[in-house]
Amino acid sequence: MSYERFFSHAAAAMRESAIRRMGTLGARIPDLISFAPGFPDPAMFPWDALREAAGDLLSGDDRGALQYGPTRGYGPLLQTLEPLLASRGIASTLDQRLITSGSQQGLDLVARVLIDPDDVVLVELPTYTGAISAFVNARARLMGVRQDEDGIDVDELDRAVARVRAEGRRVRLLYVVPNFQNPTGLLIGHDKRRRLLEWAEKADVLIVEDDPYGDLFFPDSAGPADTRPLKADDTAGRVVYLSSFSKTLAPGLRTAWVVAPEPIVQKFDVAKQAADICTGSLDQRLVHRALGAGLLAAQGERLRAHYQGKRIVMERAIAAWGPGLASWPRPRGGFFLWLTLPPAVDAERLLRRALGLSVSFVTGSAFFVDGSGHNTVRLSFSQPSEPEIEEGIARLGRALREELESQLPAGGSSADSGISVPRG
Ligand SMILES: Cc1ncc(COP(=O)(O)O)c(C=O)c1O
Repeated sequence: MSYERFFSHAAAAMRESAIRRMGTLGARIPDLISFAPGFPDPAMFPWDALREAAGDLLSGDDRGALQYGPTRGYGPLLQTLEPLLASRGIASTLDQRLITSGSQQGLDLVARVLIDPDDVVLVELPTYTGAISAFVNARARLMGVRQDEDGIDVDELDRAVARVRAEGRRVRLLYVVPNFQNPTGLLIGHDKRRRLLEWAEKADVLIVEDDPYGDLFFPDSAGPADTRPLKADDTAGRVVYLSSFSKTLAPGLRTAWVVAPEPIVQKFDVAKQAADICTGSLDQRLVHRALGAGLLAAQGERLRAHYQGKRIVMERAIAAWGPGLASWPRPRGGFFLWLTLPPAVDAERLLRRALGLSVSFVTGSAFFVDGSGHNTVRLSFSQPSEPEIEEGIARLGRALREELESQLPAGGSSADSGISVPRG
């Protein structure tokens, strides 16, 4: 029996995440080295501290540890966010904070509470697929705005708003990932952050600032001053700020948070009641204990050095392909390296070839809302070990050379086609 006729219009428009799809595909390939998911390295999870805290919490002394809790979040954790936020320059009251089940839920709440069907949402080109899914599910129209090397082009934002309004449609919000963006790794510059806040005021829109990677700056090229959130300077109350413990503690804890003007948080609270009643009580207590023990600061130190090391290994391995095969902006933090390949390369075809050599990645086009980016690729260096990165990048280089060679005219040479295929 076909169930199509039972599905809602919203369900018909829903899109499966390209990254999740890659996970299912990859599971069937032996010896696969995957650069696809933006997963943290499980070797870096604070196992010992969490084991000890979990044992304590499950002693039964705190009956709330396995009970329903407030939808807003576990009170002591909401309190503990204050110094953490202050260290990022953000002043907030308790009423402006809400715990979410991952920042992904924060994005879903944004979509439910702030978007009507056909509203326009402005996003970076390219942008995070999970946000695309949440906004598409709310039947928003997504409009992409190109980025320079220091992030989104503010003049282009102005033009986009003018175009949308001339068509009689409404722009609700701009979604940005200012720190080590997923997928490009880009960092929005200081001056641009200030201009974005001014722009939001002038254009009368909200900014949704998604910041899961801000703590993961690489000491060789960035510091805390570079990652100061827009929210820290949001005197006008234009910014909805999302952050998460997924990349710094562990994503399995599904604990993240929102800071936003109180009326917005109140609506998020009501919407969350219908979604999950509350974020896991045990998870929130574990995070609270971790923060109390100073674990976040310790993790930050370890993770910055660890992921910077992996980025160096990945860059070196790609450079060994030889010149002319790929270019990328050097990530100054985060999990991702964003490759632009020669225009003749189609990343979908490359992926099929790469899977044959047991290596995977996410095709860049998944992150573009305008259908472009056919020759771009997102590589995540966070999860594989350094030897796996070396081996996987060597395999990918082989796949890329094979793909380019397959495009040479029969009997011709690379000189005839204008494609140069370096050896190495
Ligand atoms: C930019 C961005 N936002 C949100 C998320 C979701 O994170 P969480 O595990 O907190 O739901 C991710 C995860 O990869 C991300 O990269």
